[in-house]
Amino acid sequence: MAESGTGGNQVGLKLHAAQRALGLVESGMTVGLGSGSTATLWIKLLGEQVRNHGLKICAIASSEDSERLGRSYGIPFVTFEECQSLDLTVDGADEIAPKLALIKGGGGKLLREKIVASASKRFVIVADESKVVEKLGRFPLPVEVIRMACPLVSGSLRELGFTPTIRVNPDGSNYITDEGNFILDCSGLLIEDPYALARELDSIVGVVEHGLFLDMANLAVIAGKHEVVERTS
Ligand code: A5P
Repeated sequence: MAESGTGGNQVGLKLHAAQRALGLVESGMTVGLGSGSTATLWIKLLGEQVRNHGLKICAIASSEDSERLGRSYGIPFVTFEECQSLDLTVDGADEIAPKLALIKGGGGKLLREKIVASASKRFVIVADESKVVEKLGRFPLPVEVIRMACPLVSGSLRELGFTPTIRVNPDGSNYITDEGNFILDCSGLLIEDPYALARELDSIVGVVEHGLFLDMANLAVIAGKHEVVERTS
């Protein structure tokens, strides 16, 4: 699946992945909009198709930022009250391992991203090649937690071998997710068995959601310097 002239810079690569994924959208679809810089490029391309080329879709976004951006192009939005199944969601990822096991949530939107992905018939990842890894875990795993439980959850994560750090904004205040929770970024552990770890994380009281996305993505569109490749799970 070669595509000539992808260009070397990271934004250019992300754009090429987003452009390729645009070809998956058809009029009449309900589409999930991801979050982060690559998903933002994709939303802009999609928005241009809606605004200038008559593409008829409706959407559900995985973040307030993505919804605001989509609305600025005139993309109509629905809620899960009106539509419980999306035809396609396109989103970025922080790490992509074999079998399309992912770490997501670098942008802090992992909870809504997982909800939207879970309601999608096709979940497609767009990324540049720097996101591809053999084992997950060099990128700190984001874990969304109920605020009052944060010290308790931190302790449990330490017992698993992680070094958890509460995410902060540039001004030093704690980062608050769209759902009003904290994020613990968990570093220091290469993940040998993501499924076993996901089970452990799911069992910690106070964890709302974690950034391991397993058996969710159907396709990853990955742009490298010389070509765009498509990986299936
Ligand atoms: C947002 O919470 C994330 O899951 C992003 O999709 C992920 O961090 C990838 O972001 P970039 O496309 O900005 O690298």
